[in-house]
Amino acid sequence: MPILQEVKQIAPTISVGILTADMMNLRSQLKLIEEAGVKLLHFDVMDGCFCPMMTVGPPFIKGVQTPMLKDVHLMIEDPLPKLEWFAAAGADLLTVHVESGRHLHQALRLIGQLENANDTDRGILRGVSLNPSTPIEAIAPVLDEVEMVTLLAVNPGYGGQKFIPYTAEKVAQLGELIRQSDREILVCIDGGVKKDNIADIARMDVDIIVTGSAVFDGKDPAGNAAQMLQKMEREGT
Ligand code: DX5
Ligand code: ZN
Repeated sequence: MPILQEVKQIAPTISVGILTADMMNLRSQLKLIEEAGVKLLHFDVMDGCFCPMMTVGPPFIKGVQTPMLKDVHLMIEDPLPKLEWFAAAGADLLTVHVESGRHLHQALRLIGQLENANDTDRGILRGVSLNPSTPIEAIAPVLDEVEMVTLLAVNPGYGGQKFIPYTAEKVAQLGELIRQSDREILVCIDGGVKKDNIADIARMDVDIIVTGSAVFDGKDPAGNAAQMLQKMEREGT
């Protein structure tokens, strides 16, 4: 099944970020959230240039064996020459930042042509993401080349930051732009989503919410994921 159809069937849903997971016990941690019903696993790729922190790259993503779809968020400079590596590593959703290179249109085109390493019939879902300070209009020229737009509700770099309230305004503007485009495009919010604000954010008309530290809090990943999923499914679009 094409990846857009597959993701649409599970939306509204959460995508769980692994930045704060217990890396020594990653296999069992992932099993817990999988059993709680999580279908999307979010990998934050940071290169220390686009944002201050460094995290994981293609070998790590490839090494994670999971039935969850791999949702890869690239916070790296000039992603274009590296996209093939992430496809080969098993990215099902692959997101590039509008601020990260000179060749956004070309990068999105290329993602659309790359083969999904997990399932050759699936394709890779093309995502574009915006930093909190980037206006929505920046993606208008590439709307024909994306299936998902991610609004960062925190500055890229770290898990556990506070949700920036202006994001709500941007979700409304994005909704308007998508309606005018007549394209089928998923909306994703990433950063600062916790148990106490996920219901409000789900009501903003979003399809996917990324949540990391609220699930992997060192205590109860399965219980946290189940609660967040339930709130998202109840309040979401
Ligand atoms: C920010 C990342 C996010 C974020 C999610 O750079 O893209 O995925 O860390 O983590 P929480 O939910 O802890 O904000
Ligand atoms: Zn992310």
